Amino acid sequence: MAQEPDALSKRQDYGSVALEDGVLSADPLSQISAWVEEADQAGVYEPNAMVLSTIDPDGEPSSRTVLLRGIDDVGLYFYTDYGSRKGLALLAHPSVSVVFPWYTQHRQIKIFGHAAPTDAEVSDAYFDSRPRGSQVSAWASDQSHPISSREALEEKVHEIESRFHGEERLPRPEKWGGFVIEPQRIEFWAGRTSRLHDRIRFEKTSEGWVSCRLQP
Ligand SMILES: Cc1cc2nc3c(=O)[nH]c(=O)nc-3n(C[C@H](O)[C@H](O)[C@H](O)COP(=O)(O)O)c2cc1C
Repeated sequence: MAQEPDALSKRQDYGSVALEDGVLSADPLSQISAWVEEADQAGVYEPNAMVLSTIDPDGEPSSRTVLLRGIDDVGLYFYTDYGSRKGLALLAHPSVSVVFPWYTQHRQIKIFGHAAPTDAEVSDAYFDSRPRGSQVSAWASDQSHPISSREALEEKVHEIESRFHGEERLPRPEKWGGFVIEPQRIEFWAGRTSRLHDRIRFEKTSEGWVSCRLQP
């Protein structure tokens, strides 16, 4: 039988900055930006990492980490391979759940929303900003699909490098691009002592964002 690590019985107490009524911005997308920035300032590694959960075409749920690469009034932007497991899931079921887990900050943001592929120009601009090595990988890797060996993968990389030899920038492969997640609900969580945490939930309505406090 697997031995349980001691970590499973540890109990941390949380004492983060309180979310008093009215302390959060009335615009939850700006508030997400502010918390990402604060996590960065505090030295959190990959402060823009978010756990994205999707529903496969057959209904199976699936989660993985992606990096937030943009945020505006429309929503949150990330980039991936449209033929990957998440890409195919999103094209079949656009509903997503997203979590930013900033454990050292005693903070979490949870989002429910819908994802749609970004316009080609948005994907082109981001692809163009990536280092050449990442551009080559996007061409070489059919993300989430099996491959016989590491050598076979490196062989695909060599093929792409010869194909684009002498070209400083690579064009974006059509199978690769962005998604924008348009949030419907956004919950800000801050850990407090004795598990009496603060939770403020924003809901998008026809009158704009409406917020309420949830019990911990
Ligand atoms: C910190 C971190 C950041 C990541 N960022 C991305 C990303 O922005 N886009 C992406 O496609 N995969 C990213 N990945 C890899 C994904 O977690 C995942 O392995 C990959 O996208 C395949 O997922 P899928 O098979 O569910 O489609 C990241 C992984 C980690 C640990």
